[in-house]
Amino acid sequence: MEAAFRRLYGTAPEGVWSAPGRVNLIGEHTDYNDGFCLPMALPQATLVAARRRTDGLLRLHSAQGDGKVTELPLAGLAPGTATGWVRYPAGVVWALAEAGHDVGGADLHIDSTVPTGAGLSSSAALECAVAVAYDDLYGLGLPGPELARTAQRAEHAFAGVPCGIMDQMASVCSAEATALHLDCRTLAHRRIPFGLAADGLRLLVVDTRVKHDLGDGAYAALRAGCERAATLLGVPALRDLAPADLGPALAGLPADLAPLVRHVVTENERVTRAVDHLEAEDTEGLGPLLTAGHASLRDDYGVSCAETDLVVDTAVAAGALGARMTGAGFGGSVIVLARDREARAIAGAVTEAFHRAGHHPPAVLEAVPSRGAGRLTMGG
Ligand code: GLA
Repeated sequence: MEAAFRRLYGTAPEGVWSAPGRVNLIGEHTDYNDGFCLPMALPQATLVAARRRTDGLLRLHSAQGDGKVTELPLAGLAPGTATGWVRYPAGVVWALAEAGHDVGGADLHIDSTVPTGAGLSSSAALECAVAVAYDDLYGLGLPGPELARTAQRAEHAFAGVPCGIMDQMASVCSAEATALHLDCRTLAHRRIPFGLAADGLRLLVVDTRVKHDLGDGAYAALRAGCERAATLLGVPALRDLAPADLGPALAGLPADLAPLVRHVVTENERVTRAVDHLEAEDTEGLGPLLTAGHASLRDDYGVSCAETDLVVDTAVAAGALGARMTGAGFGGSVIVLARDREARAIAGAVTEAFHRAGHHPPAVLEAVPSRGAGRLTMGG
C-alpha cells in the first residue's frame, strides 16, 4: 500500500487503515426495523493509505478503478457531485464535515479484497475504512457507533441507498473470533465468542455471482412496506411487536404487508435464540435457525432467488448443519454452516448442482470471524 501511495502521490502515507466486509449470521432485514442482528467481520477487507492535505482537496485513487486519480474540492462536496465508487469515500468526508467536524483534504489510495456485488458489504467496508482513517488523521476520537452512522449517512446521501446500520456497525465494531450481537435501535452491541474451528466447524460463503437489477429499488420498497405496517399497527417500529402479538397484528394487515411483518418478528426471535445457542457453546444449534431464516426470507420476505435457494437446498441435502442467504438478497451470497470434515463435499455438491442447472460456477470462500476496522501500520 505504501509503495503504491508513493508512486501515485510522490510521498509516503501517514498510515494505512482497514475495514472488513461482513456476513450476517442471522437477523436479516431487521436493522431498519430497529431490530436485532448477528453479523461478523470477514478477513476480506478494504485498505486505505492516506495523508492529510492542507489545500482543501480530496484526491482519490483505487486499485480496482480505472487508474485515474479523481480530484474533488472539499468545499464543493454535496450529494450528486461524485459518481461511481468515489461516492462512498467522498460521502464519508462530506458527512463528517456536515456533522461539524473540522476535517480537511487528503490523498487516498484504496485497495480491497472484498468481492463487489456479492452481498458482502464492499461499500460499507470502503466507507468505514475512510471513516476510521479520517477519525485518526484529524484526531476526531469518534466512538465506533458514530463512525458507523457517518458511513451510513454517506451511503444514504451519496449512493441513494436507504440501508440500515448493520453493515457499517459490523465493519467498525467486530472483533476476531466473535459475532456481533447488535441492537439496531440503541446501537448497543456485544461480541459473542464464535470460534468455529475449535468446534470442528466451518462457515462457508457461497457467492452465487448473481446480482438482480431490482436490488436497490426493491430494497427501498421493502423498507417502506415495513414502515407502513408499523404505522398501521400503531408501533414506532416492527421491533416493538412481540411474537405473542403477531396473530392479531397479521389479521388486521393488508395481504402484501402481513408476510413482511411475520418475517421481521420471527427473525428477531431467531436472533435471540441464535445468541442463546452461542452462549451455551452449542454452535451446531445455529444450523436449523439459519435454514428456518432462509425459508422466511424466501417465502415471507420474497428476497431469495433460484440460485440462492439451490445453494441452500443442495448444501442441506449434502449434510450442512444449516444454510441461508446473507445480506439484502436478490442474489449475492449464501452462508453454509458445516462440519469441517464435510465442508469440502458440500462445496463440491453445490458446484455440481450449479453446473447441472446451467449457472455460472459459484465462488466459495471461508468466513473466519475477523477484526473490525482500524489502523494497520504507521507511515513515514
Ligand atoms: C443490506 C443493508 C443492511 C441490511 C441488509 C439486510 O446489507 O445494507 O442495512 O438491511 O441488507 O439485512
